[in-house]
Amino acid sequence: MVAAHPARPSERELRSASKQARRSNGEDAPTSLEDIAAGIQVCRRCDLWRNATQGVPGLGPPRAALMIVGEQPGDQEDLQGVPFVGPAGQLLDRAMAEAGAPRDRVFVTNAVKHFKHEPRGKRRLHKTPDRGEVQACRWWLGAERRLVRPRVILALGATAVQAVFGKALPIGKTRGQRQALDGGELALVSWHPSFMLRIPDRDAKDRAYAELVADLKQAWKLAG
Ligand code: URA
Repeated sequence: MVAAHPARPSERELRSASKQARRSNGEDAPTSLEDIAAGIQVCRRCDLWRNATQGVPGLGPPRAALMIVGEQPGDQEDLQGVPFVGPAGQLLDRAMAEAGAPRDRVFVTNAVKHFKHEPRGKRRLHKTPDRGEVQACRWWLGAERRLVRPRVILALGATAVQAVFGKALPIGKTRGQRQALDGGELALVSWHPSFMLRIPDRDAKDRAYAELVADLKQAWKLAG
C-alpha cells in the first residue's frame, strides 16, 4: 500500500494547470509536476488516451534523488490515477521496503502514462505499448526528469529501458551496471515486478525478486 501521496496536486492546482495545458495545446514545456499531471489528461500524442480512464502521472517528492520508471499503469492504476498501486505495485513496495528505499522519498513513474489494454470478458487485459507509443510518451518522461532532477534512474523492464535509454538493452546482462545518461543522471536497469508475478517456477521467481531488491538497494545507495 502507498501510505502517502506527497506530490499529489490539489484539485484547484489541477484545474488551473489543466486550463493552461488546453490553452497551450499541451505543447509548452511543463514547469511543474502539476502542469504535467494536468497536461497528461489532455495529451493526444498517441491514441492510448481513448480507452483509458485517465492519464497517470509520476508520484513522489518534487526533488527526489531516485526515480523509478515502470512500464505503464495497470488496471488499478488506471482507475485510481496513481502509479504502482495494484499487484505489481504491492510487490514493488515490499521490495523497496526490503531494500531500505522509502517509497515516499522516491519519485515513481511510468514510461507510458495511459493504460493500454484489450477487453477480455469483464476484464481488461494489459497490452505492451509499442515503440511509437513509448516514443510519444518520452516527452512526458523527459519533463519529469527535467523537473525532478534525480541523481539516479532505475528502469524496470524492457519498456522502461527503451524509454530511459532510447534503445533496447538485455536486462539480464546489464543489471548491476550503472550507466551515465545524456541528462547527467546515472541509470540502472532491473526486472519489472509484473514479470516476476508471471514466473511459474518458484526458485526462478525468488531469484528475480532477490535481484530486484539488490538493484533497488544499489540505486538507493548511489542516490544517497
Ligand atoms: N506496472 C507498471 O509498470 N506501472 C504501474 O504503475 C503498474 C504496473
